[in-house]
Amino acid sequence: MPASVILGAQWGDEGKGKITDLLSEKADVVVRYQGGNNAGHTIVTGTQKFALSLIPSGVLYPTVTPVIGNGVVVDPKWFFEEMETLVTKGIDPSRVKISNNAHLIMPYHRKLDAVIERYLGNSMIGTTKRGIGPAYTDKYSRTGIRVQDLFDEKIFREKLEVVLKTKNQQLVKMYNQLPLDFNEIADEYLDYAPRLKPYVADTSLLVWEALQDGKNVLFEGGQGTLLDVDHGTYPFVTSSNPTAGGAPVGIGIGPTMIDNVIGVAKAYISRVGTGPFPTEQINEIGDRMIDIGGEYGVVTGRRRRCGWLDAVALRYAARVNGLTEIALTKLDILSHFDTIKIATAYEAEGETFTEMPRQQRVLHQCAPVYEEHEGWGDDITKVTKYEDLPQLARDYVERIEDLAGVPIRTVSVGPGRIATLTKE
Ligand code: GDP
Ligand code: IMO
Ligand code: MG
Repeated sequence: MPASVILGAQWGDEGKGKITDLLSEKADVVVRYQGGNNAGHTIVTGTQKFALSLIPSGVLYPTVTPVIGNGVVVDPKWFFEEMETLVTKGIDPSRVKISNNAHLIMPYHRKLDAVIERYLGNSMIGTTKRGIGPAYTDKYSRTGIRVQDLFDEKIFREKLEVVLKTKNQQLVKMYNQLPLDFNEIADEYLDYAPRLKPYVADTSLLVWEALQDGKNVLFEGGQGTLLDVDHGTYPFVTSSNPTAGGAPVGIGIGPTMIDNVIGVAKAYISRVGTGPFPTEQINEIGDRMIDIGGEYGVVTGRRRRCGWLDAVALRYAARVNGLTEIALTKLDILSHFDTIKIATAYEAEGETFTEMPRQQRVLHQCAPVYEEHEGWGDDITKVTKYEDLPQLARDYVERIEDLAGVPIRTVSVGPGRIATLTKE
């Protein structure tokens, strides 16, 4: 604080929701800056469990203004459904603000996401099929439709007509699908307009004013560093910039306004979808990580791939994000392992790599160089002070700190709010 980015330091699902929720207690504004409802951020309060996708994790606190920034792609249908779910759980989400410049996810984006994946066959990315990639594609090819377009019916219809023509050509001629109906989409989206209006704001100005007033602002990333379209394992990535550089762009503030960059990292690693994963354990160890860690996707329910912590990747995340601190989550899951490994380098083609290889081919073929740590064995889920963790657990945490070159300030030992230790 006062302006902190919280982002995933691995391939997503590191526990960003939990950490954002914790810090939200002292925040005034919590902003999502990229991605959309491909994210699944879990928050476990004393009695309830929330899975947030599009709405920022700060929404649970009545003192927080949750903001969906211009860098996010917004599916209005999903937005209203998620808002409704929050209301049924006793949360008042009426303070949510959405950028007038955010792009809309349209029905053809969802449809294309699904069929493009099918046509990719073995090269599929394993997307969430929420239309994220096709929506960002339109944004960058300048045929996207923005939230503000909903409030000018003539412009909205004109834009939709032009873009739907090409989308239907694509759907019918390339992917053997039925075309989508213009009137159906226009009616659906124009119907959203008056319902969406109370939430729409100049969020760049809103955040800037909050910062001018000395308020605490959190920027909550979706996905993770290795899923970044520029810095991740392309093409097995998402279509936005979850890295810290994406925050000022996706909010509409200058980079000089950011004070801290908190990287959330799991004490081991998981990945959903396809793509290289050097430390993956396709064996009994991986299966136990999935079972004990409950590693199933929040959004798609898919089994997550799991493996040992990768210090090469973590050091890379520290560098490309300029991390000022790390929050280490799910340390409690490793209590169930006698031996715990950390990859400190990769070996491939007769070479040892201590930095992310320049040729991605290497990442697909390399063998990790592991160091082994003795497991601590004890249940640590009830520990309330970092100093009370078993010595072997502290050794593990401090070794990660050394390898990453960034201080670990938070250690999470359970999904709940209280299962969190502060490390000086
Ligand atoms: P996010 O996408 O980064 O917010 O992470 P997800 O919510 O997709 O996945 C993290 C999962 O781990 C959720 O089920 C959390 O409730 C859970 N979790 C977070 N921190 C801890 C922890 O320290 N220990 C355990 N056992 N679970 C945790
Ligand atoms: P949170 O915020 C983990 C993955 C998908 C796929 C790739 C592209 O919960 O950490 P997309 O639908 O974005 O085009 O899919 O990215 N992916 C995630 N993996 N956590 C996420 O979000 C993810 N969001 C997308 O599985 O491999
Ligand atoms: Mg998630």
